Amino acid sequence: MTTNEELFARAKQVMPGGVSSPVRAFGAVGGTPRFAAKAKGAWITDATGRQYVDLVGSWGPMILGHAHPEVLSAIQRTVEASSSFGAPCLPELALAERIVSMVAPVDRVRFTSSGTEAVMTAVRLARGATGRDAIIKFAGCYHGHSDSLLAAAGSGVATLGLPDSPGVTKGTAADTIVLPYGDLTLVEETFAARGEQIAAVVTEAVPANMGVIPPPAGFNRGLREICNRYGAKLILDEVLTGFRVGPTGYLGAAALGEGWVPDLLTYGKVVGGGLPMSALAGGAELMDLLAPAGPVYQAGTLSGNPAAAAAGLATLENATADVYTHLDAVSTRLRGMIDQALTTAGVPHRINNWGNLFSVFFTETEVTDYDSAKTQDTAAFGRFFHTLLDEGVWMAPSAFEAWFVSDALGERELDVIASALPKAARAAAQG
Ligand SMILES: Cc1ncc(COP(=O)(O)O)c(C=O)c1O
Repeated sequence: MTTNEELFARAKQVMPGGVSSPVRAFGAVGGTPRFAAKAKGAWITDATGRQYVDLVGSWGPMILGHAHPEVLSAIQRTVEASSSFGAPCLPELALAERIVSMVAPVDRVRFTSSGTEAVMTAVRLARGATGRDAIIKFAGCYHGHSDSLLAAAGSGVATLGLPDSPGVTKGTAADTIVLPYGDLTLVEETFAARGEQIAAVVTEAVPANMGVIPPPAGFNRGLREICNRYGAKLILDEVLTGFRVGPTGYLGAAALGEGWVPDLLTYGKVVGGGLPMSALAGGAELMDLLAPAGPVYQAGTLSGNPAAAAAGLATLENATADVYTHLDAVSTRLRGMIDQALTTAGVPHRINNWGNLFSVFFTETEVTDYDSAKTQDTAAFGRFFHTLLDEGVWMAPSAFEAWFVSDALGERELDVIASALPKAARAAAQG
């Protein structure tokens, strides 16, 4: 039988690092990535036939679990009528109408294919609308790999401890102002100094790419107020939180209750139900600056792809209130189980969560920003990770990622995790 080692060796011959996206290569934890062969519900099977309980969910999209029957049949029905038209089509219209009807301040949706593309376009739109060049982003937040958003990025950039990427021009980098997360005073001072140059502030609704960091009370609302005062746009990146922390994401769960809305929202992951689909969304006035309604150009051969739109729509339709209740309950139980196992083994740790989204930091320090996230004992995480994997638990190979729960996690899966955790915690303790 082919082993994962053999497959990875072959992959490295034909793909840089053997993968299509860096974190998958296990660089931060060592060892060999498992090649996925199939998945159903909360279970993922590797190319050798070994099964694991999945706590990654394709890094967020698979909120209903894998191969959900309704999502599968929506994809199958749609693909029978062709997998791409390159023309307006009914599934994208239905998905756009659903998003507009679900998400209060949204009048318009532009579909793109990856989260990167959605946020990149949102930044271009903000620049086009304001006639300004600079943007503010926060250290450790990840908004995809477009040039202007790579500076001090979270996710794989954090996982691999990479400096800002070669290939980004000095001019582009100079237009990105990176500030530490959570410090409104610094944002205020930066606007006071350069306010007339700043097109937008872009922030993750809840940072989750340096591990999960709940926004300090009033931080996002404060960004809104400062942007208003200086005529800058606020881009709330909900690629990860959108339709995951609740049916209307962070916006519905927090912002609307506080009485504010961003200028632009970006979606990805859950909105495509596991197929390449993302979106930017906002009010008509700003969104209608996008071509062909307006002058800000953006396009895509596969944008609004019918199969991806159908998968997204079926996912949103099946993500009922009961699903979110279950996600919250499973997340709470998992956090309790992990905390207990690590405490018993004497492993310093912190668990942060925002709703069902959580992460475990192997540190004694309270984690509130990128610097504190980096105090982690990543070697302890690596031992924890590998023991869990050996025991049949599939989790993100990075100390800087969120754990993603799905509706398919039930008692059987929680039992597997519960019996693996004490051993993993002991491994983490053996530094
Ligand atoms: C908050 C956020 N924005 C943008 C992206 C980029 O999305 P994609 O990987 O689909 O390009 C991600 C990906 O993890 C993300 O978490």
